[in-house]
Amino acid sequence: MLIAYFAAMFLIFVGLDAYFIYNWRRFIIGRNYHKFFYYITYFIAFSCFILLCINFYNKATFNVDHKFQWISLLIASIWYLPKFAITPVLVIKDLIVLVNRTYRRIASRPQTESTRTPEQIKRRRFLQTSAWALAGTPYLLAAKGAAHTPYNPIVKEITLIIDKLPRELSGFTICQISDIHAGSFPDSEVIEKSVNMINNINPDICAITGDFVIDHPRELPIIESSLARIQTKYGVFACLGNHDHYMSDENNKILCDRLEKANINLLNNSSKILEINDKLIQIAGVDDLSFRNNYGDFDKAMSGLSKERATIMLCHDPTVWGKTIKNSIDADLTLSGHTHGGQVQINYGIGKFSPASLIYEYCYGLYVENNKNLYVNCGLGTTGPPIRIGLNPEITKIVLLSRAV
Ligand SMILES: [Fe+2]
Repeated sequence: MLIAYFAAMFLIFVGLDAYFIYNWRRFIIGRNYHKFFYYITYFIAFSCFILLCINFYNKATFNVDHKFQWISLLIASIWYLPKFAITPVLVIKDLIVLVNRTYRRIASRPQTESTRTPEQIKRRRFLQTSAWALAGTPYLLAAKGAAHTPYNPIVKEITLIIDKLPRELSGFTICQISDIHAGSFPDSEVIEKSVNMINNINPDICAITGDFVIDHPRELPIIESSLARIQTKYGVFACLGNHDHYMSDENNKILCDRLEKANINLLNNSSKILEINDKLIQIAGVDDLSFRNNYGDFDKAMSGLSKERATIMLCHDPTVWGKTIKNSIDADLTLSGHTHGGQVQINYGIGKFSPASLIYEYCYGLYVENNKNLYVNCGLGTTGPPIRIGLNPEITKIVLLSRAV
């Protein structure tokens, strides 16, 4: 298994690098630039591949030094990720060259540097230089996505009308955060900032929709004292995510116990009824049901709740809303995370596109179907590359209004 894993990694990353460096070398030689400019790419490529191998090996053998894992993945991500955008452009360019050469060969009109006019040579060199200058854009985006965006949480505000919400509870405010993935941060800065932002809002409740860690409770010191500082009127409620189960049962228990000590009410297939000004609002939570996980139990989560009252459901994976909740569970608002919005969002002026929306039907934001609402938060932390492009860590402020107002 481990060998197949390394073989696949070798093929993808070395293949990408070899093709990129081959094209870069031809460009440098064609321009008569100093050979240093392509020798340095050999050195960087070799260093990044070794870093990535060590990172993957550490991960596979659970030999995790948090700081090393974070910095090695960060460097390798900045080197490799832009190539996923640049390589298709290089392939198209090489295909055009191939078709052009084949056509000229068939038509017996071979063209070499010596047969081109000075004007053709000038135009060709301008196009090549411009293309390589443009190829730098993904690197700039990756650098910003690594150094800036993941460390600048924002507050996104939405307002929803909930039919069953009593008039007296209109204005009930929830702060949702999700997918903290504590081990994806080098330190506590982002969670500290996020908790300060939540406390400034002073919500009625805070909802945390799973994936507190990447895969081990040893990541908790990065977040637990910050989480314990969250101030709300009626409490902090949470459910677990798939990553909170990527560990032994013993470690999962340690994780849950430490979260409870940080004043977090874990709603793992359970619920809480809040009484505010003699009116009731229900909060339910299901344990993880993503991928092949089967920890969730809606019968237990909804036990003792009334269909007549407004209900907020915490459920890590929004896919579960599409499959089950929107059709057969009495939850007016479901809060989810899990997708991270793909960690990449392209803003093209009149709209936004996340590649993850090709995989997830409910990828990021608000969805309303069957008079039920789903909000998918794009998370605070990251998984895989510690990079976010066009999608800051998010605290969602959700204000519920009563239709009776
Ligand atoms: Fe996650």
